Amino acid sequence: NERTFIAVKPDGVQRGLVPEILSRFWNKGYKLVAIKLTLANEDLLREHYADLTSKPFFPSLLSYMLSGPVLATVWEGKDVVKQGRVLLGATNPLASAPGTIRGDFAVDMGRNIIHGSDSVESAEKEIGLWFKKEELVDYKPTLTSWIYE
Ligand code: GTP
Ligand code: MG
Repeated sequence: NERTFIAVKPDGVQRGLVPEILSRFWNKGYKLVAIKLTLANEDLLREHYADLTSKPFFPSLLSYMLSGPVLATVWEGKDVVKQGRVLLGATNPLASAPGTIRGDFAVDMGRNIIHGSDSVESAEKEIGLWFKKEELVDYKPTLTSWIYE
């Protein structure tokens, strides 16, 4: 079953948006398989954002992501990587449609409150970076047959 890595960034945590964001994924029908409040560190972020380390905004991205706790989560379900990005909205919150998380709760690209994996391959990489295998919980939600035909 497909899995994605979703993280509420420090601004989303501080603004009290964790319950709202978890609800969006649960209400859609996705299954939470891992969750923890954690502080990132520079080494982790350099791997997590490996494709962005040479960008001019990378130093500010680093200090943003180190500015407070991050809520790291893993979600499982049909097409969850792509659909997770749909729930998030565009990278630039001003280009995100109302109804998306960034469209509803953010204005600035450098304060866009949430991260979501952009492909199945990056999801696997990111889940491995942020979680130990034992932290991914195996269970069958009782609602499964009401969500999947
Ligand atoms: P993530 O889900 O966080 O990975 O965002 P994304 O996949 O929509 O965008 P990308 O991976 O390209 O960039 C990662 C993060 O870097 C973004 O979410 C922004 O917080 C930040 N970022 C990206 N581009 C810019 C930029 O041009 N300026 C600033 N200030 N921040 C940027
Ligand atoms: Mg990205």
